[in-house]
Amino acid sequence: MPATHRAFALISLLSFSAAAPTVDDCNQLTQPLQANKLHQILGRWIFIQGLASNGSLGDSLRFVESTWMVLNTTSDSRTLQAEIAGRVVQQLDESVQPQVPKMEDASIPTNSQGPELSSNPSSHPVSSSTPHLVMKEDRCLRNVQNMSLVDGKDLEFYMKIASSYHRFLQTCPDCLLMHTYYKVANHQMFYLFGRNKTVTASDLETFRKQGECLRFPTTPKFNYDPNNELCPVEEKKSESTPQQNLH
Ligand SMILES: *[C@@H]1O[C@H](CO)[C@@H](O)[C@H](O)[C@H]1NC(C)=O
Ligand SMILES: *[C@@H]1O[C@H](CO)[C@@H](O)[C@H](O)[C@H]1NC(C)=O
Ligand SMILES: *[C@@H]1O[C@H](CO)[C@@H](O)[C@H](O)[C@H]1NC(C)=O
Ligand SMILES: *[C@@H]1O[C@H](CO)[C@@H](O)[C@H](O)[C@H]1NC(C)=O
Repeated sequence: MPATHRAFALISLLSFSAAAPTVDDCNQLTQPLQANKLHQILGRWIFIQGLASNGSLGDSLRFVESTWMVLNTTSDSRTLQAEIAGRVVQQLDESVQPQVPKMEDASIPTNSQGPELSSNPSSHPVSSSTPHLVMKEDRCLRNVQNMSLVDGKDLEFYMKIASSYHRFLQTCPDCLLMHTYYKVANHQMFYLFGRNKTVTASDLETFRKQGECLRFPTTPKFNYDPNNELCPVEEKKSESTPQQNLH
């Protein structure tokens, strides 16, 4: 093939890959994970990139440095437990106080019915009245929530505290793709998680297209910098002894 032809082929390939995905592409790119693929979403995931719908929900992600999430089964086969730990930026000053991110904002948003976090970053840990949401000196917000399986052939969960739905889509190996939406408010979020701190450039490009297919604005609201530390995994306490020492 003459060089000019090769160059032309290359250029058309490039421009093709930069073009908006077609309807056919999108049908391929937004296939749901089937309910029998539950095992694929279990375990620990690192939040890599997040898109948010036109609403403002995604804005609190700018206070987030890193987030991981562990999805695990429970004794009830229709209930999934989501444990989330997110590290927030150091400079939570006066100007951002009303916007102190709740852990839910960072990964699985819940609405204002969720436990309130003290907006004063110097007061840690958060008072004992918020057992599921604790920020310590390490700037880590932690939260554990149950989600219940939504009936159907696709893998989808409902989180009652947030009135949010979480559907999972087919994605790269070692990736988790979660589409969160609310039936009442018109917010939507689209999250790419990885088993590792990074995914390949082509996996990110696919995520961008998937977001486009679902009509998300293309600029990510969160883009993980792998130099940012993750919250430590906490030692599991024995759950058979629920008594607490009140000092
Ligand atoms: C999932 O739950 C089981 C049983 O509670 C526990 O033994 C296991 O460590 C959990 N897995 C993760 C990744 O937390
Ligand atoms: C964002 O707004 C555009 C234009 O109003 C709309 O077409 C699109 O569906 C919205 N995206 C989401 C994810 O809500
Ligand atoms: C989550 O669901 C499991 C199984 O139904 C239950 O044992 C556990 O107490 C629930 N945890 C929370 C935090 O609601
Ligand atoms: C991702 O992490 C897994 C184990 O955590 C490892 O086996 C794998 O090689 C890593 N992949 C990349 C691309 O770094």
